[in-house]
Amino acid sequence: MHIRTAAPDDVQRIMQLYKEVAKVKGGIARLENEITEEYVENFLKKSLAAGLILVAIHPEDPERFVGEIHAYKPGIHVFKHLLSDLTIAVHPEFQGKKIGRTLFTIFLEEIALNHTDIGKVELLTREGNKKAIAFYQSLGFKIEGRMEMRIKTPQGIYEADIPMGWQNPNFEF
Ligand SMILES: CC(C)(COP(=O)(O)OP(=O)(O)OC[C@H]1O[C@@H](n2cnc3c(N)ncnc32)[C@H](O)[C@@H]1OP(=O)(O)O)[C@@H](O)C(=O)NCCC(=O)NCCS
Repeated sequence: MHIRTAAPDDVQRIMQLYKEVAKVKGGIARLENEITEEYVENFLKKSLAAGLILVAIHPEDPERFVGEIHAYKPGIHVFKHLLSDLTIAVHPEFQGKKIGRTLFTIFLEEIALNHTDIGKVELLTREGNKKAIAFYQSLGFKIEGRMEMRIKTPQGIYEADIPMGWQNPNFEF
């Protein structure tokens, strides 16, 4: 599997991947109809300008992506040392094959090696997504609290969001 940094013209390929991922309930927060070109263009642009975005290419079709991870700086001075709004998504047919772990490991290695201005990477995950929480902990993320009643599930139940953080061992203060 080939992994590379995303390019500005990857919008449609990323959008296609996110739409497939959003079809499965309980994964990413957005519904399929909320995966718009504007949404993808926005995070792609911010991640390329001040963050990091990686894509995993389909083994037989370079026009299709099977995974993606991104995060970016929130944009104001006091948050200059943070990457936030992290999202990772692996195509449902390719989940459970170590693509997510490989993408995330490369992502954190790249931050540690080449982004020493980044002190911390933040993400939020739904409390019910226990597999995702355990996965992030295994990569070195720590639970930093509990944001009550932040998510309304498709079943109409309110659920907490869990903020998690990873600290860059090579951060240059
Ligand atoms: C979560 C996700 C990125 C993991 O990527 P993956 O390629 O499927 O996972 P990997 O095969 O690399 O396995 C990594 C860990 O993810 C967990 N995992 C596997 N499938 C998962 C799934 N469908 N949902 C959540 N976690 C999953 C496993 O527990 C695994 O832990 P292990 O390595 O100790 O066995 C991917 O399954 C996905 O995109 N899920 C839907 C969207 C989502 O939940 N995003 C995260 C929102 S916070």
